[in-house]
Amino acid sequence: MEKAGWAYYSSGADDEITLRENHHAFHRVWFRPKILIDVTNVDFSTTMLGSKSSVPFYITATALGRLGHPDGETVLTQAAGKHGVIQMIPTLASCSFDEIIDAATDKQTQWMQLYVNSDRETTKQIVQHAEKRGIKGLWITVDAPQLGRREKDMRSKYDEEVADVQDEDGGEVDRSQGAARAISSFIDVSLSWKDIAWFKSITKMPIVLKGVQRYEDVLLAVEHGVEGVVLSNHGGRQLEFSRSSIEVLVETMAALRARGWQDRIEVYVDGGVKRATDILKCIALGAKGVGIGRPFLYAMSTYGVEGVSKAIQLLKDELEMNMRLLGVTDLTQLNPTFVDVRSLSAHNSIPADHLSLTVYEPMTVPKFKTASKL
Ligand SMILES: Cc1cc2nc3c(=O)[nH]c(=O)nc-3n(C[C@H](O)[C@H](O)[C@H](O)COP(=O)(O)O)c2cc1C
Repeated sequence: MEKAGWAYYSSGADDEITLRENHHAFHRVWFRPKILIDVTNVDFSTTMLGSKSSVPFYITATALGRLGHPDGETVLTQAAGKHGVIQMIPTLASCSFDEIIDAATDKQTQWMQLYVNSDRETTKQIVQHAEKRGIKGLWITVDAPQLGRREKDMRSKYDEEVADVQDEDGGEVDRSQGAARAISSFIDVSLSWKDIAWFKSITKMPIVLKGVQRYEDVLLAVEHGVEGVVLSNHGGRQLEFSRSSIEVLVETMAALRARGWQDRIEVYVDGGVKRATDILKCIALGAKGVGIGRPFLYAMSTYGVEGVSKAIQLLKDELEMNMRLLGVTDLTQLNPTFVDVRSLSAHNSIPADHLSLTVYEPMTVPKFKTASKL
């Protein structure tokens, strides 16, 4: 990969504590498998927002695909199409929205992630164009009124052409502080709950709020009549010390079930998911589906369509094996009795994580002006 791509994709906010916690949190959830179940035929297909999916995960929206691969997001589209996996198209894609739609097969399901532009007329046009082109869900990002401080990214200078939406604004773009800062100046800081009714008035697509971090907001989302939420801390790129999504999932499902509201909204989760066991833990706890970002970006950047396809196949193989080992033949059989979450919200024991220990870029040691006289 190019250094700028690595810096943008791999970075998290501040000291990357939440970035690492997203992965660690899965280490605090353990399985309680069943035995002596006939597991000859295992089916891990599902539906999300009414669309069929071959797997309980989707490719989540990640901006600037061309920082990793010359063909950008269409690489993800092609692999997703081959495998019956749903792709969420980012507002800040490097490819144009229509290029990404055109790269899909007729049968493929795609969703759209929306960063709300302060110019609502622009937002309306984007949303209605997406609906016209067959997009099956509008995922509004609600955790990024300002983009987080991703210092690894900020240390690199961003030279690429900015994504379409900014160009329309015609505003000056500051390219001196990394990719994230360069592309995000148009996002509407004033977005609030009262805007939901407006979104519902301009589109018939199901609406999902992406980036919810407390169960109280999930309850509000139900009251506002949206179809779904994604429990997400934006891959550890926004508020440092946000909790992991799987931890928020447990409190969310408890609050929904206490009110009998668990079927009134679809709950999605993303962040730190690398293995099928991570996915199955989320499904057992009540998630409808799981978003995956960086693993597919790295597969795309290094091996293109073949790489993303291989990454998807690895997860499919792991799903089949682990469902057999858990004693379930389809996803509806999973429930909270399959997991032990007693230590999930204890944040005091962090297992060694060799991945982040070898990959994490430390701050450089300062050079002093004069040698010490001591
Ligand atoms: C490089 C990168 C770019 C991202 N861009 C966006 C974006 O434009 N809009 C958005 O809502 N989320 C964005 N996200 C957040 C992802 O949709 C998702 O929440 C997160 O990546 C999940 O964590 P994971 O990368 O550990 O799987 C981005 C994440 C990454 C890593």
